[in-house]
Amino acid sequence: MTKPTAKELHEIASLRQELHLHNHNYHVLDQPIISDSQYDALFRQLLEFEERYPDCITPDSPSQRVGGAPLDGFVKSHHKEPMLSLENVFSEQELKEFDRRVREGLSATDDVVYAVEPKIDGVAVSLVYENGKLLRAVTRGDGRVGEDVTQGVKTINSVPLALFGSGHPELVEIRGEIFFPLKKFDDFNQKALADGEKTFANPRNAAAGSLRQLDPKITAKRALKFYFHSLGEWQGEGKPQSHSQLTTLLEEWRIPVCPEIEVVTGVAGCLEFYKQLENKRDSLPYEIDGAVYKVDLFQDREKLGFVARAPRWAMAHKFPAREVTTTVSAIDIQVGRTGALTPVARLDPVDVGGVIVTNATLHNFQELARKEVRVGDWVMVRRAGDVIPEVVRIIKEKRPPNTIEFKAPTSCPVCDAAVIWPDGEVVARCGGGLSCPAQRLGAIKHFVARRAMDIDGLGDKLVAGLLDCGLINSAADLYSLADKKAELIDMERMGEKSVDNLLNGISASRKRDLSRFLYALGIKEVGETTARNLARHFKTWQKLAEADQEALQGAADVGSVVAESLIDFFQEPHNQGVIAQLQQVEDCNWWQVEQSSTTEGAKPLDGVTVVLTGTLEKMTRQQAKTRLESLGAKVSGSVSKRTGLVVAGEKAGSKLKKAQELGVEVLDEAGFIEKYL
Ligand code: IVH
Repeated sequence: MTKPTAKELHEIASLRQELHLHNHNYHVLDQPIISDSQYDALFRQLLEFEERYPDCITPDSPSQRVGGAPLDGFVKSHHKEPMLSLENVFSEQELKEFDRRVREGLSATDDVVYAVEPKIDGVAVSLVYENGKLLRAVTRGDGRVGEDVTQGVKTINSVPLALFGSGHPELVEIRGEIFFPLKKFDDFNQKALADGEKTFANPRNAAAGSLRQLDPKITAKRALKFYFHSLGEWQGEGKPQSHSQLTTLLEEWRIPVCPEIEVVTGVAGCLEFYKQLENKRDSLPYEIDGAVYKVDLFQDREKLGFVARAPRWAMAHKFPAREVTTTVSAIDIQVGRTGALTPVARLDPVDVGGVIVTNATLHNFQELARKEVRVGDWVMVRRAGDVIPEVVRIIKEKRPPNTIEFKAPTSCPVCDAAVIWPDGEVVARCGGGLSCPAQRLGAIKHFVARRAMDIDGLGDKLVAGLLDCGLINSAADLYSLADKKAELIDMERMGEKSVDNLLNGISASRKRDLSRFLYALGIKEVGETTARNLARHFKTWQKLAEADQEALQGAADVGSVVAESLIDFFQEPHNQGVIAQLQQVEDCNWWQVEQSSTTEGAKPLDGVTVVLTGTLEKMTRQQAKTRLESLGAKVSGSVSKRTGLVVAGEKAGSKLKKAQELGVEVLDEAGFIEKYL
């Protein structure tokens, strides 16, 4: 077998290093610095070398992420140090008792410093790195013996196959949670629903099911993620003295660390964190079910020790449950703006994680049949994030007698048009088009929605009211409502003030640009991203409307399906009428793209890692984070050499100190507002 030359060996090593770096930029930092095709070209070069010199393939080569053949079964693996569980508290009182026990155990007179993080709803795994190389990944199992899932874990792009930097210990066991990001979970289930395949009941099951695939190629498709949460074995020098020190080191090694992680003092700090976390629970991209508080200093942890299967130095503070049982009082059918018929379970009202739920989606008739839901059944209902509550399953053991099987309808329950079952789709549709009042209502609700034309003062009920009393028939009619002020004031529950609000909101929506306008029109296959891509590419409505199939496909991510849907839309007489009417509206920005959205990459904080710390007074953390992200920043939870800016609110502590030590730019809240808001 031929051997690589020294020059080739050097090339192989630098290709690998480069690929690892781009992987990290893409999957951890969300900031790729090369295009996908450039990445693919580098990857191909490496594969060519490895084909030519198979002896040179190393286990940490980027080519080895999906390299393994399907396994016959999982091999058991012992954890040298048991993987423990956490005890739970559900109230402030119980938390105070935990803190009291900790202080007693440490004979502490001062408040204890805790590292605090979200409790991520996923699967615990242990990653063993030997001299910096990923040796083994094992599930928690029963805490002593787990299953070797190394092949599957290697497919998780954000998990380094080799630790970055140098000076790694001989052996380090990094434990954390593997989870299924909510958006990906939703996409997965949507696709499974559309294909008539089995869905996962929740992201945790999805993570576990995906990891326990014998074929790593399937795991690779699931886009799982990993966040560190605890340390197992450490052999060798340089062990940090605290959890917070460890997270900084792990970030340097490019181990993914949850950005929400913080260091707080005493019960008050824990509670503050819990409240903030609960507020942002719905906006986090992964499912959490509480906060975890851990004594920060490792030497204090040693003093405290363990009880049974859990440490005395850590505690999970759980949020109210988001899966509860109730009964189905009726099954109704909703007709959406595209005519899709969705069966909805009407429920006996039930508190699901602090929200009273009365309806839950059953997705489609096939799902309803698969879950065998009947009126009167006991069901498990689940609410996650902003997602509509859903019926997870029935509790068959509790089924009362005389329940009746549900039959899918043959005509639309709103307009009586025949129900269509499009080929290859599991969703049934009303064939009535915009003559169906439900589809018209849906189309207008979509047009005025926050992410579309964002019309203030025009909620769902008011849209329905305006349609009912004949004041509007299409979205275009909204812009002639100013001439019908008297009729508006006469409407039920409308006063002069709310009419003024409504008219101001409608008038302000003339300032939305082409990208939002395109999305607002509700064209089939044109979601927000496609609308933005089309707007950026064509820049004006005129150019877009004149484009043929080929020209349309010139826009990013526009294929033949989207192009055909656009052409159908422009040709449809009803749509032409609505557009002609909208073209009469004076002084509006819809017909061209806004300047700022064409100049990509010119954001003031592009690529800068920013850390928020302390208490902000003028805005919530989430608002600050959203603003920073819209300026191009990546918001991180801990300060390191790579931090570009720290925004320090009141009572900022260790992170501010560290930023000052490292010479990182620091702004107080007022400074941040002045410069960036
Ligand atoms: S610490 C000895 N931190 O919760 C303490 N666990 O109910 C080790 N989990 O098995 C765990 N998020 O899988 C810790 N931020 C977090 C966590 C977390 C999720 C899981 C973990 C553990 C289970 C215990």
